[in-house]
Amino acid sequence: MKIINIVGARPNFMKMAPIIEAMNKHPGQINHLLVHTGQHYDEKMSQAFFVDLGMPKPDINLEVGSGSHAEQTARIMVEFEKVCLRETPDLVIVVGDVNSTMACTITAKKLGIKVAHVEAGLRSRDMSMPEEINRLCTDVLCDYLFTTDHFANENLAAEGVPADKVFFVGNVMIDTLLKHRVMAATLDLSRRLGLTSKGYATLTMHRPGNVDDKGVLTGILEALAEISQQIPIIFPIHPRTKKMAEEFGLAHFFNTGEKVEGIWITEPLGYLEFLHLNMNAKMVLTDSGGLQEETTVLGVPCITMRPNTERPITCEVGSNVMVGNSKQKILDQARQVFSGEAPQGRVPKKWDGHAAERIVEVLVDTMAKGVFL
Ligand code: UD1
Repeated sequence: MKIINIVGARPNFMKMAPIIEAMNKHPGQINHLLVHTGQHYDEKMSQAFFVDLGMPKPDINLEVGSGSHAEQTARIMVEFEKVCLRETPDLVIVVGDVNSTMACTITAKKLGIKVAHVEAGLRSRDMSMPEEINRLCTDVLCDYLFTTDHFANENLAAEGVPADKVFFVGNVMIDTLLKHRVMAATLDLSRRLGLTSKGYATLTMHRPGNVDDKGVLTGILEALAEISQQIPIIFPIHPRTKKMAEEFGLAHFFNTGEKVEGIWITEPLGYLEFLHLNMNAKMVLTDSGGLQEETTVLGVPCITMRPNTERPITCEVGSNVMVGNSKQKILDQARQVFSGEAPQGRVPKKWDGHAAERIVEVLVDTMAKGVFL
């Protein structure tokens, strides 16, 4: 079976790494190529992750870069179509919900190529999120839908997806976390930064809903500034957030000095470094998707600055609480963490480090039966 694996943006890399590793255990049966769309291209947003995760260099880089959603999606489709026509794969595997995920799915399906979606069925029901549009378009077209939890299974069933296309395999991002946890713990980054365990918070924030409006961003930064009077907040800043804060004249909220205090900004961190910091953080403040899952497994309180989540399992059993972007709610939840009242959480079913193996088993089984769904 000839498979093309797709990655494009930062959150894709840690999901694809264990899938490639599991495929490498079946050299006679699976022949795979890695295509990077080039959606993320900065050294620190892309290449650094390949090094940290021990991923092979992409066989093909489409080098599409940034642009509007339509421009980026269209460029990926035009370039990926050429790859599909040249390589004639049996299957394309996409992960997550970024523009690269949807663009490659549409391209392959229109050429009659089967597509598998890893992390299928997640729904925020928020159509203002580009990722929700990407998730819906991808899932409706895919032949294999690999899911992380019961909510995803239920969402797909409610949308009429036949049950024999859906495989509940667990969470590949957690495969990567569990594999690298010990290694991340041995880094000396926190010592170098003068941090003590539970003596700081970490922050990620890049959603257009939070950073593209001056009033919203100001409220969030005021809340964070208050929290940072108690413990420093380490903020590996996303290029988009940096640009918007500068444009709105809000950069004074950030500490760019040597000493870690206040809202301390740094360049985007590598996978291991950020895992290392999150493991021992007092709390994680975020608007990301994946971090809600990682903190759930790490047992670290997570304050999600979004009105909704496509990952409700992290609130149902995990350590995640949704607070939207109101200053007051962010502060109230931080207080809960300081007073030890935030949920501890437990690990969801099948988030056990073997999701990628299950995915490859499904593919190999299907191939052995001579059936393509
Ligand atoms: C994308 C994903 C989002 C994911 C995030 C993780 C979509 C719709 N969004 O958002 O789901 O959570 O990645 O980071 O696919 N930029 C750089 N260097 C880079 C990449 C981007 O400077 O390597 C800047 C550019 O100004 C660019 C902007 O960031 O225009 C946004 O990049 P883009 O890929 O469009 O989306 P993200 O906001 O990164």
